[in-house]
Amino acid sequence: MVKALILCSVSLSLLLLFQLFSICGNAKNTKLVPALYIFGDSTVDAGNNNNLSTTARAISLPYGIDFNHTATGRFTNGLTVPDYFARFLGLPFAPPYMNLSELERRTTTTGLNFASASSGILPETGSFTGSPLTLDNQTDLFKITAKTLDVQNIKVHLAKSIFFISIGSNDYIMNYRNIASKMNKLFSPDYFAKFLTEELVKRLKKLYLIGARKFVVTGLGPVGCIPAIAKSTPHEGDCAESFNQALLSYNKELFMKLSKLQSQLYGSFFVHTDTFKFLHELKENKEKYGITDTQNACWDGKHDPCAVVVLTSHQYALP
Ligand SMILES: *[C@@H]1O[C@H](CO)[C@@H](O)[C@H](O)[C@H]1NC(C)=O
Ligand SMILES: *[C@@H]1O[C@H](CO)[C@@H](O)[C@H](O)[C@H]1NC(C)=O
Ligand SMILES: *[C@@H]1O[C@H](CO)[C@@H](O)[C@H](O)[C@H]1NC(C)=O
Ligand SMILES: *[C@@H]1O[C@H](CO)[C@@H](O)[C@H](O)[C@H]1NC(C)=O
Repeated sequence: MVKALILCSVSLSLLLLFQLFSICGNAKNTKLVPALYIFGDSTVDAGNNNNLSTTARAISLPYGIDFNHTATGRFTNGLTVPDYFARFLGLPFAPPYMNLSELERRTTTTGLNFASASSGILPETGSFTGSPLTLDNQTDLFKITAKTLDVQNIKVHLAKSIFFISIGSNDYIMNYRNIASKMNKLFSPDYFAKFLTEELVKRLKKLYLIGARKFVVTGLGPVGCIPAIAKSTPHEGDCAESFNQALLSYNKELFMKLSKLQSQLYGSFFVHTDTFKFLHELKENKEKYGITDTQNACWDGKHDPCAVVVLTSHQYALP
């Protein structure tokens, strides 16, 4: 605790900031940036799917048990990573765009959330749950928003704001496995990783053209360890390692592409988060973090609401 306090009082680089925002509060409660804009899938959706025609919804407990016991549409027991981030930045939680009125969409200048559970980088990825917002939908809606946002200087506003993008797992869960089983030779993990990251880069460039400059792009976590995936994939050990290897291929490729992008796009800044390493560390040292079970979903009811979520301690530990 003492150590954390000392760390929190020094000025932080973005990288350090990212490691520390979950344990540090923003004591002064001043805004560190004007706004936080969020794009992605269920890892960061804050309720958009409640207002869309899709079956991918987190509308009942145990979702939200630590969010004032309310299932808001977040696919987690409590806060999402961008919620913690917003808190650290001195901003309110970015509200889900689909739940706002036209007026609120223009006047909410501290950030908006466009993320939609079950979506992927590829437009077709989420379609089996209905019509979630594809990543293209999300960037299109953001473009419309940027045109009407109630700020004095939109260019400065966007350049100073942070763009948080967390997406790609569903392209593996829902697309890659199907494609790979059909076209194993044509779609090697490396080939798919190159293809998918290239598709993501196209959308990141779109955001840059609208005015985004500061990006946080998450790598993929160990999806092969998600209970529903591990249980439906033949494997030895705790996790579907072949699946995890494919994701590591993606993470490596993403890291290289983001570095390249930063050198290509004038004034841009990219932070790549190593979600895989972070969650792997939690899993391997679960006792240290107070986690009791990393093998089973937290709820074994008829559906499995904990199968595809940000992995937090509660999701592991629930009876
Ligand atoms: C949606 O908007 C209503 C009305 O403002 C609000 O009460 C509710 O909490 C919002 N839901 C989410 C998930 O943000
Ligand atoms: C829970 O409710 C309290 C009181 O209304 C509020 O201050 C707090 O922000 C809420 N917690 C979350 C996670 O929304
Ligand atoms: C979104 O859906 C919720 C219930 O799911 C509803 O209360 C709210 O009015 C809807 N918001 C909009 C903007 O349609
Ligand atoms: C998402 O994109 C599709 C394809 O362009 C379009 O038909 C649909 O209306 C969009 N959805 C929203 C909510 O903008």
